[in-house]
Amino acid sequence: MLIGKRILLIVTGGIAAYKTPELVRQLIKAGARVRCVMSQGAEQFVTPLSLASVSGDKVYTDLFSLTDEHEMGHINLSRQADVLLVAPATANTLAKMAHGMADNLATTLLLATDKPVLAAPAMNVRMWEHAATQDNVELLKARGVHLIGPDEGDMACGEWGEGRMSEPHAIVQAVVDFFDADAPLKGLRAVVTSGPTHEPIDPVRYIANRSSGKQGHAIAQALHDLGAQVTLVSGPVALPDPVGVTTHHVQTARQMKTAVDAVLPVDIAVCAAAVADWRVDGEAEQKIKKSGTQSPSFSTVQNPDILASLSIPGAARPRLVVGFAAETESVIEHARAKLAKKGCDWICANDVSSSTNTFGGDDNTVHLVTRTGVDDWPRQSKLCVARQLARRIADHMRKQDTSEQPGETA
Ligand code: C5P
Repeated sequence: MLIGKRILLIVTGGIAAYKTPELVRQLIKAGARVRCVMSQGAEQFVTPLSLASVSGDKVYTDLFSLTDEHEMGHINLSRQADVLLVAPATANTLAKMAHGMADNLATTLLLATDKPVLAAPAMNVRMWEHAATQDNVELLKARGVHLIGPDEGDMACGEWGEGRMSEPHAIVQAVVDFFDADAPLKGLRAVVTSGPTHEPIDPVRYIANRSSGKQGHAIAQALHDLGAQVTLVSGPVALPDPVGVTTHHVQTARQMKTAVDAVLPVDIAVCAAAVADWRVDGEAEQKIKKSGTQSPSFSTVQNPDILASLSIPGAARPRLVVGFAAETESVIEHARAKLAKKGCDWICANDVSSSTNTFGGDDNTVHLVTRTGVDDWPRQSKLCVARQLARRIADHMRKQDTSEQPGETA
């Protein structure tokens, strides 16, 4: 299945383009979200309106449309996808891809992307067999482009041979196989906490913090993308639920703990939430009234520590427990201390002093502190941090499974 997978379908100008509305329909039926880009040639065989209707999204056709470039640059179109699927991929487009040409939106996207590319060639048998095409195909394969087909059969031009675009169901299966092959966390369960908590003072006031939940949500998505079955327990945030992830919404630290405990046992726990350390002792049942010049005073009590309780050794302990340390000074030292105090396996330490704009911003600088060392990751988007962490987690779980490093926790 392709639940939650984001596919950027690039349709280029071959007669097989008439099959793409059916391809989009089947991809969506398998759970994918599909956004379409068309070359000018493709528009001769299928209309943007048909693809917009089946995909339920705008279709992108013109590289030089200033509004599109303003709303969503071509780099963003591929950033927001998990894979790029070129179907049909004409001989001309394959040649441009092989030689780094970028003379329309489709080829510009293909040159500007760092995402995996799948291509379903479609052309006349002689064009397919031509040494130029075969050389281009070898070059593309060597660079990691995954080819789907082409199939053998009758051609629109009356000839018979190899060059027909694979049928939509075969292309969908190839996309499913592609994701299955890159699902190192398949069969594993993960819980992720994200966002702030709100600790009520009275029915209208609460203690909160500046956490946006962007990092935690991205981690839940990245673990899902690698095949894990993920439950996200989120405090109050203004973010959509990650697709394909079971999300529980909570307000307070105690609710967050209850929701996390309900998901156990899991293999992986990532506590990215900025849980309030304290709550007001005895929340007022009615709104506290202003009384003259006297300001109210509150006493506080400690909230349960979800990360520490997940880290308690025992049969139910997740195989890997990862915490976050948001610090404004001596980031690594504090993270090391936190690792020891909480008993977790890894700490993602980040500097959240106001000059870094990390709290609420889109970028993050993480130092991964393990029991054996520190990895300094570059400043990058929270999405990239999430992907890097998910890959690191997958490597760790694989090593544990194959017992390459027994007892390894780094
Ligand atoms: O102690 P501190 O709040 O700095 O620790 C941060 C780490 O601990 C984060 O991973 C956070 O999600 C987790 N935490 C928790 N429960 C708390 C407080 C923090 O899980 N009550």
